[in-house]
Amino acid sequence: MSMKALILCAGRGTRLRPLTFTSAKQLIPVANKPVILYSIEKIRNTGISEIGMIVNPDNISSFKQALGDGSNFGVRLTYMVQKDPKGLAHAVKISQDFIGKDNFLMYLGDNLIQEDLSKFVEEFQRLEWNASILLTPVEDPTRFGIATMKSGKVVKVVEKPQVPPSNLAIIGVYLFNSRIFEGIDNIKPSWRGELEITDAIQFLIDHGDKIQGHVVYGWWKDTGRPGDLLEANRRILEDIRSSQKPDAISSNMYKMEGPVVVEKGVEISNSLIRGPVIIGKGASIINSYIGPYTSIGPNVTIENSEVENSILMENSTVRNVDVRIDASIVGKNATISSAKIKPKVHNFVVGDYSFINLS
Ligand code: TTP
Repeated sequence: MSMKALILCAGRGTRLRPLTFTSAKQLIPVANKPVILYSIEKIRNTGISEIGMIVNPDNISSFKQALGDGSNFGVRLTYMVQKDPKGLAHAVKISQDFIGKDNFLMYLGDNLIQEDLSKFVEEFQRLEWNASILLTPVEDPTRFGIATMKSGKVVKVVEKPQVPPSNLAIIGVYLFNSRIFEGIDNIKPSWRGELEITDAIQFLIDHGDKIQGHVVYGWWKDTGRPGDLLEANRRILEDIRSSQKPDAISSNMYKMEGPVVVEKGVEISNSLIRGPVIIGKGASIINSYIGPYTSIGPNVTIENSEVENSILMENSTVRNVDVRIDASIVGKNATISSAKIKPKVHNFVVGDYSFINLS
């Protein structure tokens, strides 16, 4: 039985506004690489190369621009539009023609997980389960879809229970055969108006299907909120073991401590960089301090400023800021600067739903 994958990216991403007004949250860079590429690589490593992308009418062009047909990443991408985010089961239903009779892996596009998925996929192909879901123990089960297991089998799934029957959360990776479409066709929207994948799975359980729960213990992150993105950024930068500096670096009087990855054409002068840090191509760092867990995108300028534990996207500028910038996400082409004139004033052009916190 051949196997496909489906990555769900059609949500509105309201919790990451204003970044999601101009792009999709799955394309936000973590350690200078879009979140979704980590997932595509994980899927590709299981041997699956046929991937369906569920996107929405607003973000489809950003995805096509960033990922194209997938050939640069060793996969084949097919785009399908979900007009409104009416639920995970609704998104899966849209893919029915694309999936056909194949088994498939379903992946929530904003999830990052550490676990290698090869064994999970291989086991599903070999054994006769109708679905298999990745589970992990969590401290606050009321925030997640929760599964109850009996001798390796899932016997009940509930969405965000007030009284949790277990602490095993459903993380965003599932394996299905085409039985799931039968489940989806037999459910109604939930109280929040969405077709829930948990309801479709529960329908299968109630009709005697065998659903496997596969418990994992590595870290995983749903990158839905700014704090989650920064945490994912820290986790991934933590894996940088040694510094890499190309010859093209033009610099004088700088100091680096800890692992720092510097891409091509970077200018650094009179600055201290304390890793783990990644610096994208063409960036300039002048008279500045860059602290641990910072991802600096391509062509970013940082001058007379201090930045740490932050994500600065492509072409952004930080200049003459006299208070350290910490735990911040700066979007593409954004500028934060101080004119250094008296009297001290704040002067902003701030986009809708932006978030500014002054000390
Ligand atoms: P969520 O994070 O639950 O929703 P969202 O992306 O709309 O974000 P927010 O709550 O901040 O507005 O979605 C989880 C993943 O599933 C995400 O990658 C988007 C995707 N998704 C769809 O593709 N279709 C849908 O109908 C829904 C609800 C989510």
